[in-house]
Amino acid sequence: MKKIAVLVLTVLTFFLFIFSISAEPTELGAEKCAKMCHKAEYDSWLKTKHATMRHKVDCETCHGKGSDYAKMWIMKDKEAAKAAGLIAKPDKENCLKCHKNDFKESMLKECH
Ligand code: HEC
Ligand code: HEC
Repeated sequence: MKKIAVLVLTVLTFFLFIFSISAEPTELGAEKCAKMCHKAEYDSWLKTKHATMRHKVDCETCHGKGSDYAKMWIMKDKEAAKAAGLIAKPDKENCLKCHKNDFKESMLKECH
């Protein structure tokens, strides 16, 4: 009887684990990033076209959806944050899908 209970628990834990890592990350929103730590980037981003146009390009469009990496203890660990989907320094590849014709290296410094 005990063995079966252990087996059932093991299988349940396994499926919970698989579920927790396979769930797609979701967006938390720019305000959340500002409140947590990044007020400076937020204020400066607000002044860009990305923030004022109708289909916003916000923090998570460039840096990756935040639900998995936004916890403080993950953010403080560069490797863990990266594994959880953070793109700390977005590069050209993150821009080209929208800026195919007008991309310039200098634009990477003008996001916020
Ligand atoms: C259009 C794309 C884009 C958007 C939108 C954007 N960023 Fe960035 N972010 C970048 C790029 C590119 C860099 C790297 C800049 C550099 O190398 O100087 C960067 C760098 C950063 C860094 C420094 C990372 C490091 O390790 O040095 C932080 C923090 C940051 N962004 C936060 C934010 C927050 C918060 C928002 C939303 C309010 C935001 N970003 C919106 C593109 C973006
Ligand atoms: C989802 C589409 C999308 C992505 C991804 C995107 N952009 Fe943009 N970006 C736009 C649009 C649309 C505009 C407005 C163009 C216009 O009105 O001229 C814009 C404008 C800009 C501007 C001008 C900002 C201003 O205030 O005048 C810069 C600089 C820029 N993008 C840099 C970047 C960089 C760097 C990346 C990648 C890290 C990036 N963008 C990713 C869609 C995007």
